[in-house]
Amino acid sequence: MGFLKWVFLILVLCVFGPVTVLSDSTVITDGLSKTPSEFLEFAKKQEVFDWMVEIRRKIHENPELGYEEFETSKLIRTELEKLGIPYKYPVAITGVIGFIGTGKPPFVGIRADMDALAMQELVEWEHKSKIPGKMHACGHDSHVAMLLGAAKILKEHEKELQGTVVLVFQPAEEGGGGAKKILETGVLDNVNAIFGLHVAHNLPLGEVASRPGPSLAGSGFFEAVISGKGGHAAIPQHSIDPILAASNVIVSLQHLVSREADPLDAQVVTVAKFQGGGAFNVIPDSVTIGGTFRAFSKESLSQLKQRIEEVITKQASVQRCNATVDFLENEKPLFPPTINHEGLHKHFQKIAGEMLSLRKVKELQPLMGSEDFAFYQEKIPGYIFFLGMEDRTIGRLESVHSPFFQINEDAFPYGAALHASLAAGYLSEFHQEVPSQEAKQYHDEL
Ligand SMILES: *[C@@H]1O[C@H](CO)[C@@H](O)[C@H](O)[C@H]1NC(C)=O
Ligand SMILES: [Zn+2]
Ligand SMILES: [Zn+2]
Repeated sequence: MGFLKWVFLILVLCVFGPVTVLSDSTVITDGLSKTPSEFLEFAKKQEVFDWMVEIRRKIHENPELGYEEFETSKLIRTELEKLGIPYKYPVAITGVIGFIGTGKPPFVGIRADMDALAMQELVEWEHKSKIPGKMHACGHDSHVAMLLGAAKILKEHEKELQGTVVLVFQPAEEGGGGAKKILETGVLDNVNAIFGLHVAHNLPLGEVASRPGPSLAGSGFFEAVISGKGGHAAIPQHSIDPILAASNVIVSLQHLVSREADPLDAQVVTVAKFQGGGAFNVIPDSVTIGGTFRAFSKESLSQLKQRIEEVITKQASVQRCNATVDFLENEKPLFPPTINHEGLHKHFQKIAGEMLSLRKVKELQPLMGSEDFAFYQEKIPGYIFFLGMEDRTIGRLESVHSPFFQINEDAFPYGAALHASLAAGYLSEFHQEVPSQEAKQYHDEL
């Protein structure tokens, strides 16, 4: 009997689940004359699509690294001016913050990162990177194009917005912590929620994937110099060998995850760099090793950090070497884990479900990759999702950070319309919940 009750309950949930979502859709678009699907139709219009593609290709040809996105930033500002959207610049060196709507609360952020990677593009095509050794291999060029697409949609419907959309074009996602710098300027202080997206090469076009709670790992980097005493390779007793010491250090570091971490609390320690020696018959003075560590909570992350330092210095001393460890936090701040807000997850499912159908809104498995979007989520309820690009009729796409990485531009209307609907829908849904006292705050930019 108990079993049957469960079957019945599950059936009820299956049958009535989608109905609830549909009836809620009237709430989502309350005050807006257009539904998420109509936003998508607009973004698919040939002229809107071509405009986004052109912007993306221009940025792709001229990739700029973190905090050097000057031309990218200029291009964004030019487009915002053409659209009649006021903005703040410079924010965190190259960042641009645009505003659409009433200028009053609630404020909802939508974010795109702008930076490229220091790697050579190996895709041969008309709009290949013109800068040797730099490439948009993480799709941030497409993120900018889609956020501008969203800006265009939202500007068309500005009079219907029940609050203010804050466009966040941020520098330096790839390790530079651009999000952290943007927050430090205070420009997002009154923002009530923020959304972001990332393209995914292995998720079908027209689908999205995400999850509530911990989604991506937090991460840190380390570099250590292990010093011994160099000498003739045939007379080891007169040297202190840092190669062997570093090798023991690397083996000992493997025990942090296999022996010290809770097996159910996913963590990674990888040594990805090992530099030392240059001859077959010389023991070098020192060896430099470096790598990354990942975890899904701040506690596990700081525990790893502390133990990495201890293991490196103490294990090196077993072999009579000295070691110094640097966590490079000035250039590469420790990224917190990416934790998606539960309430915003429901909002996302409603909007994406209505636009794409619930079948296409997939549950994401947590990933050990990390995102500096997590910095926003520490301060503001935030939500990031993956946007599908894969089209099997065209072929397989390479993963992000591959020199063969390619974007399927057909994903742009989906990204633009989702950004716009998430933001506009958020304002419709939550405009009554903002305390009246807060409602007195204005953005001077408007
Ligand atoms: C390690 O540091 C100590 C103290 O500074 C120094 O006396 C020693 O020579 C160093 N050993 C090596 C192998 O560099
Ligand atoms: Zn990346
Ligand atoms: Zn990225």
